[in-house]
Amino acid sequence: MKNSSKIVISNLPAPLRLARPGKLVIWKVKGWEKSHEELRIKNYELGIMKNEIEKLKNEILSNLAKVKEERVLKDLEIKYLGRKGELTKILRSLKDLSEKEKKEIGQLANEIKKEIEDKFSEAKIAISGKSGQERVDITLPGEKIERGHLSPLTLVQNELEDLFTSLGFMVLDGPELESDFYNFTAVNIPPNHPARDMQDTFYIDKKNKDGEYDLVMRTHTSSVQVRAMQKYGAPLRCVVPGKCFRCEATDVRHEHTFYQIEGLMVDKGISLSNMKAVLETVAKKLYGEDTKLRMRPKFYPFVEPGANGEVTCFLCQGKGCSLCKNSGWLEIFGSGLVHPNVLKNGGIDPKIYSGFAFGFGLTRVTQLKYGIDDIRLFNGGDLRFLNQF
Ligand code: DAH
Repeated sequence: MKNSSKIVISNLPAPLRLARPGKLVIWKVKGWEKSHEELRIKNYELGIMKNEIEKLKNEILSNLAKVKEERVLKDLEIKYLGRKGELTKILRSLKDLSEKEKKEIGQLANEIKKEIEDKFSEAKIAISGKSGQERVDITLPGEKIERGHLSPLTLVQNELEDLFTSLGFMVLDGPELESDFYNFTAVNIPPNHPARDMQDTFYIDKKNKDGEYDLVMRTHTSSVQVRAMQKYGAPLRCVVPGKCFRCEATDVRHEHTFYQIEGLMVDKGISLSNMKAVLETVAKKLYGEDTKLRMRPKFYPFVEPGANGEVTCFLCQGKGCSLCKNSGWLEIFGSGLVHPNVLKNGGIDPKIYSGFAFGFGLTRVTQLKYGIDDIRLFNGGDLRFLNQF
């Protein structure tokens, strides 16, 4: 073969190459390109390809016929039809063929692909035991959704909000990050006044333009008193439930984060008897009709006179027990007639108007109501505690 040279077909798609042991070697005769020989090689290649596809199809079908488990079926699907699957690889290699070849073999390949996909769907239905159209039994009971529930603090807060709104009070909100002014100065606790020592405060580490630390986490909901007066003027009736903060070392009785509910009523001719009537109503609502209320003088800078409020211990009915430390009474709020300075700070004339204010420890009231003996449970996030309510 003097005038001939050897061509080696090695750029065939992988499955074809694997299918033939050795390489396809064809001796090329000089000037062969336009010859019959070229066609013969091409036809030979296409023939092999068709054979390979048919062979793969038979292999897939026989494997499919044996499958009984969903997991195995899934594996087969990945093996043949997956992104790197064997059939997928062959189909992808068709893109290297000429237009004419693509037409010829592409049609066959697509038919086979469709047939195989159909068989897979059939096998899936057969295995899962369902008919092609899934049926829904609308008489089956629905899936039960576990319902959340409110925190005990929210339960008590809601109860008190309902009571106060029924007495004509608005429910207001105020900022937890508060100015030194509204938290202290406005409610008659000026800077450097010893009364500031009554509340351990978290000051925020940021100075204002005068070089003072003037932001605090509010230590009580009384901070909303002057805000409410400035916004709504007199007459005024509002309650303010909310979160308060103090720099406390925590133990069963102390917590750095707790809840209060503040109350304020301003009108003409308001006296201590109005205050007592409202607070007695609240105490009875919380602890029952037989509950007695006792108020004794106590100093609070924002009221004059000031009083603390105690109710008969609901556990021992006033006889004395460990809950009330044998006193028969439980302290639940502070109160008093609004100090004229506070009214003035709120833009209300104390010569025309007077008012009363009170602050309940909402956390404390809740503890007493449900017999919760450790205040830290409220913020602890322990589901065994929370799921009881
Ligand atoms: N702000 C007080 C505290 O946190 C509670 C209080 C006492 C509020 C007397 C009042 C009041 O409005 O009149 O201890």
